[in-house]
Amino acid sequence: MPSKIGTIFNFNQLPDVSKFPFVISKRRDKILVKKGLFVYTKSNEGYLIGVIEQILLLNEYFSDALTIKSYNSNTNPNILKGLFPSDDFEFATAIVKCLGIIQFKNGDNKEIKAIKRMSYPANPGADVHLLDENVFNQFIGLDIKRGLYLGNIKVSNFEAKINMDRLLNKHFAILSISGGGKSYLTSILIEELLTRDTSYGNPAIILIDVHGEYLYLKDVPKLQDKVAIQDISYFQIAVPNLSAWTFRKYQDQISNVQVRELSKYIQKLKNDKGRKGKFTLQDIIDSIENESEGSKSTKQALIGWLSDLHRLTLFGPQENPFIANIVNQNQITIFNLANEISIRKKQIIVDYLCNRLFYLRRTENIPPFLLILEEAHQFCPEAAHSKAISKSIIETIAREGRKFMACLCLISQRPKKLSATVLSQLNSKMVLNIKNPYDLKHLMDSSEAISKEYADMISSLGVGEMLLIGNAVNYPIFIDIRERNFKSKIENLSLTDVCLKWEKTS
Ligand SMILES: Nc1ncnc2c1ncn2[C@@H]1O[C@H](COP(=O)(O)OP(=O)(O)OP(=O)(O)O)[C@@H](O)[C@H]1O
Ligand SMILES: [Mg+2]
Repeated sequence: MPSKIGTIFNFNQLPDVSKFPFVISKRRDKILVKKGLFVYTKSNEGYLIGVIEQILLLNEYFSDALTIKSYNSNTNPNILKGLFPSDDFEFATAIVKCLGIIQFKNGDNKEIKAIKRMSYPANPGADVHLLDENVFNQFIGLDIKRGLYLGNIKVSNFEAKINMDRLLNKHFAILSISGGGKSYLTSILIEELLTRDTSYGNPAIILIDVHGEYLYLKDVPKLQDKVAIQDISYFQIAVPNLSAWTFRKYQDQISNVQVRELSKYIQKLKNDKGRKGKFTLQDIIDSIENESEGSKSTKQALIGWLSDLHRLTLFGPQENPFIANIVNQNQITIFNLANEISIRKKQIIVDYLCNRLFYLRRTENIPPFLLILEEAHQFCPEAAHSKAISKSIIETIAREGRKFMACLCLISQRPKKLSATVLSQLNSKMVLNIKNPYDLKHLMDSSEAISKEYADMISSLGVGEMLLIGNAVNYPIFIDIRERNFKSKIENLSLTDVCLKWEKTS
């Protein structure tokens, strides 16, 4: 292979099993050896792959204080330069972090058979080469033919085409500070999934859009047919689908005794043949009022709690939309929560949706799906005191969803506020810039793949850069996120633009 970039040497007790240093060859073909490049060398165990993690420029001439002093005191340094060719003393070295040993299937070194851990250092004197794109893709576990194209690998500039099965198999998270680019990245993911060849097998997508940021997808001519927007003002929960315990979840003041009472009323309505399984919350309230037996205080309290739920205008005789009909492969269904202010109402909607989706998926009534949840910390928070109605079902899907191909993508700007149980189940993480040390610590605690070293790098990422870590890739990679193909009209609006165009809506 032609791409020799240096020679391994002994430096600072290295090479050892985990690192090796090499002297960078002076090059004529302008390949700049940079931090972050993937390289390989032939070691006793096979091809040893590593990534450059440090570059040092050394110049013996400038390592002695006295020489520098005389260099600086001389009025014309060019005279000294003529006497001592200081530039020729300079050489660059790199330190490589070893990642693994690869063995090829055949002698042509094209197809990787196995990746193993290193157990022996690289050899001083051995050549170091740039890793070519084909081997890199196999080593990282990318899927160049069918993968989701999110951008390019930092420094190497290879296409980052993430294997869909590996990403969606075990749930994932998109995390960053506010304005870090999470929604932008999510829209790229959606673009990729919606425009992917249908013969590759695509899941259905359901998106809980808290701020109405994704509605523009409906205006994109190429995607129009694949986007359905559900207006939450018509959302209805089917009362006959709910047990007395579910009512208690939505109104936690209902006591155990009252739950048992409520069960009886619900059962009675279900058994009433004339209703054909259809009844409303008002029907339950009426049947409690009309009942002559039983404790009056229990009945009064129950009516109070149920009336409180009734006022949310979320409950009806049947669900709307009919969830089993709106989840389709190669399509996205966006639930627009932008006009809903009440957090309790939003949580009830998300709870009901998640429960139904998971149930319908378990019973094979809907195809495998990806459920994307924006502002996930509002729906499954870590703190025990912040009651989140939807927390338990999200934790259940996080734990068990994989077996049923129900995949979660949780998006959050406050990882610290996100349930640690859920965070630890989200196997892959797309991490953009996170500055808050508490968020970083929470992330490190819930994911063994994120070491202190990565945490430092995460805090210095810029907009448009991300770290992908976890099940989706064999080794963490940094990606320059690509531009999105379909633009939102409001994307580049500045405050000035909005102020200039503003008119009061009558
Ligand atoms: N990869 C990118 N390339 C170009 N612009 C980007 C990129 N990522 C983000 N931006 C820009 O940065 C801004 C913030 O991005 P975005 O809305 O995605 O952030 P966010 O993390 O979702 O924020 P919030 O937490 O407030 O929801 C947007 O104006 C977007 O256009
Ligand atoms: Mg956002």
